[in-house]
Amino acid sequence: MPHHPFVIEDHETGLFRVQRRAFLDENLFAEEQRRIFDRCWLYVGHESEVPDLGDYRLRDLGERRVLFVRGGDGVVRAFLNACSHRGAEVCRERRGNAKSFQCFYHGWTFRNDGTLLGVPGREAYAEGFDRADLGLRPVPRLDCYRGFWFVCFDPDAVDLPTYLAGAKEHLDLIADQSEAGMEIVGGTQSYAIEANWKLLAENSCDGYHAQVTHTRYMRYLMSAGAVGALDGGEDSQAIDLGNGHAVMEYTAPWGRPIARWTPAFGEEMRPEIDAVRARLEERVGAERAERISTRSRNLVIFPNLAVVDITAITVRCFQPIAPGRMNVEAWSLAPSEESPAQRRVRLENFLTFLGPGGFATPDDIEALESCQRGFRSTPNDWNDVSRETLLEAPTATGEHQTRAFWRQWQSLLAPQDAPVLREVRGADAR
Ligand code: FES
Ligand code: FE
Repeated sequence: MPHHPFVIEDHETGLFRVQRRAFLDENLFAEEQRRIFDRCWLYVGHESEVPDLGDYRLRDLGERRVLFVRGGDGVVRAFLNACSHRGAEVCRERRGNAKSFQCFYHGWTFRNDGTLLGVPGREAYAEGFDRADLGLRPVPRLDCYRGFWFVCFDPDAVDLPTYLAGAKEHLDLIADQSEAGMEIVGGTQSYAIEANWKLLAENSCDGYHAQVTHTRYMRYLMSAGAVGALDGGEDSQAIDLGNGHAVMEYTAPWGRPIARWTPAFGEEMRPEIDAVRARLEERVGAERAERISTRSRNLVIFPNLAVVDITAITVRCFQPIAPGRMNVEAWSLAPSEESPAQRRVRLENFLTFLGPGGFATPDDIEALESCQRGFRSTPNDWNDVSRETLLEAPTATGEHQTRAFWRQWQSLLAPQDAPVLREVRGADAR
């Protein structure tokens, strides 16, 4: 581990910089696995993905593969996907429903609560062989907040609510959109990006690029009747939520199928959306209903989860594969009770903007891969992340939210290298 700072923050000059080798270095990549992905709480799935007994999903979390499953007893568990015999992967399907899992190598069989059920040729083992010791290995920590399940590989980590810190408020604003519970809709968007994973953490909460990279989408929205799409977010906020989590919250003109109508949805949708809004007000009060239905949010939960709540809700998780490569999985989250017409609008929005063939994601991927190529050409240069450093009330188009990520990254990765914070000024000093 190199003993020099990758992040430099100077409160006197208002400068914040990140070394480009932080996106390239092989040793650093290995350190990230150990100090970040082995220690932080990591998103594994939503409760709606395993509604029935025996439902399971296979999820990659950093370097590990985890079986997220609801057992026959109704309890949600997460196991490391490795056979207790000689290590083969016990589950080889990404999703399904099973009472038990049989390892394809020698045929050991495990119940969906992890217990070892069957060993072919049991009689060949001596007395000391005890099946009770040989169940699937559960992850050290597993917990749920408002339907979002997380695991942690560090048995001594703080509990999940403490870890989530200020991010809880924003997960609440999303979970409260439903009367009957939120649900993941349909399948998974799955794609790879030839760029370092931290670039997507930055990009998922970066309002600065939106008007430039996504001009085409903004113009399309304007043409569809979303007045103000090209104005930028004057009343936006960027908030450091603690522990590396951050959010940008803003009033977006493009409307949402939950409770904000725009001409783009068509007149026929109006009564339905107004009715949803009225019910929402009844349930959570006028002020909160206004915030839920008119304010959009891009939430990044450190290290690798983004929940983007705009015209649809995208839950996006990204896994580091190599310094210059990540895998991404994204899902659409929706109120389970919404009507078919609202669901259609939501899914169209989901695909139109953040889908892998939509207006935003291909352009964002190109930007991220372009950064990664740029870093390779200039590995010793520094990224500047100083925008709005001294502003008392940072906005979505600044880089306050990005700095929150990097401070946490730096403190976990190289506490001995953390630069001394100097003069305390502006929102960034809080
Ligand atoms: Fe699974 Fe042998 S490795 S049964
Ligand atoms: Fe973007």
